[in-house]
Amino acid sequence: MNNFTFSYPTKVYFGKNAAADYLPTELAKYGDTVMLAFGGGSIKSNGIYDEITAILKNAGKTVIEFSGIMSNPTYAKVQQGAGLVREKGVDFILAVGGGSVIDCCKIISAQAKLDCDIWDMELNQRKIPTEFIPMGAIVTVSGTGSEMNSGAVITNEEKKIKCGLVGASASFAILDPEYTMTVPMKQVISGAFDTLSHAMETYFGKPDSNNLSDDINEAVMRSVIVNIRILLKEPQDYNARSELMWASAMAENGILKIGKITDFQAHQIEHQLGAYTDCNHGQGLAVIHPVLYRHIYKSGAARFARFARNVWGISDKNTEEETALAGINALADFIKEIGMPTTFAEMGIGENVDLKAVAQSTNITAGCCKKLTAEEILEILNECK
Ligand code: NZQ
Ligand code: ZN
Repeated sequence: MNNFTFSYPTKVYFGKNAAADYLPTELAKYGDTVMLAFGGGSIKSNGIYDEITAILKNAGKTVIEFSGIMSNPTYAKVQQGAGLVREKGVDFILAVGGGSVIDCCKIISAQAKLDCDIWDMELNQRKIPTEFIPMGAIVTVSGTGSEMNSGAVITNEEKKIKCGLVGASASFAILDPEYTMTVPMKQVISGAFDTLSHAMETYFGKPDSNNLSDDINEAVMRSVIVNIRILLKEPQDYNARSELMWASAMAENGILKIGKITDFQAHQIEHQLGAYTDCNHGQGLAVIHPVLYRHIYKSGAARFARFARNVWGISDKNTEEETALAGINALADFIKEIGMPTTFAEMGIGENVDLKAVAQSTNITAGCCKKLTAEEILEILNECK
């Protein structure tokens, strides 16, 4: 196992009525001016907005609303939010939504404390922020696991780059599976596939020798697969939604990554596809994963064979490579079974997208079992069409 440091900054309140039970105590720890950040309005139609604003009002807070955070949040939106935080003297940021709202707030929280531009600071000067406006997260759609880490994925539209920045960690996260009951099934599945992807991207990293993180990871992957199948039959199954919600946090809270260098090559490709198309994150991953894996599995056949056996229950074939390929085929079949797209065309991505530019701007990761070139990434993208 590689060396590691592990700490846990986020306190998690999980379950029914978690906001009513725990938000007042948490709010009491912070100042009076609270920025309530949310997305395009789902929280207004499903009652979450009313519930949270009533709690804020009872706690005597002055509420500054920051709405309209879009899926694939933009750098411009971050700057708008940071400006509002400074102008209103916000003491605490409450992000209510999914990965997009939480990510946007993590960077707002850092940018509001900085005199310099955070994009330039992190990506050019290679410095990470150390001071933050405190924030909390109330998760309304699961999948990204953003609530339990400090990473945020932001799209810089001008530069055509979608990438990870380091921002604040939420001091607390409220995960009430009932809040996810109104999420459209297509998004539920897309989010759950994102979770499966995070687990795979970690599992296929280095080293690929026996370690506890990977044993736990296999359990997370099997759980996601089982609970997606349950939800497709029984969309309102509370237990399945709660299992997926916790699996989402588990896949990105660092536990599966302990002692590993992660892969995340599929994510890097998908993020740049997103920068050029604004596509849905989980759907992009569903198309890319099997194609990418067929390109690289021979460089990591033992690990792909273990994935086939322990995640998909496949018995050994004549060779390790054949077992490995059977596992990738099982993943591809699962993607079809759960109604996710298998080509860019099915996602509505047309021929006009500059895939060469996507390939050339994709980061190459150190954890992938095969170090890809931009030409190979272009081949992969063309096969996804
Ligand atoms: O905007 P509203 O109206 O709220 O609608 C949202 C949005 O359209 C809707 N929604 C949320 N809660 C709902 C609901 N609809 C009905 N009922 C509810 N309770 O769901 C839609 C999707 O929301 P979004 O936050 O965009 O989805 P997700 O959580 O998948 O986040 C995607 C973003 O997270 C990034 C992605 O790249 C993408 O930008 N990621 C963040 C990661 C991280 N920080 O760790 C890791 C991931 O790999 C990922 O890259
Ligand atoms: Zn993801």
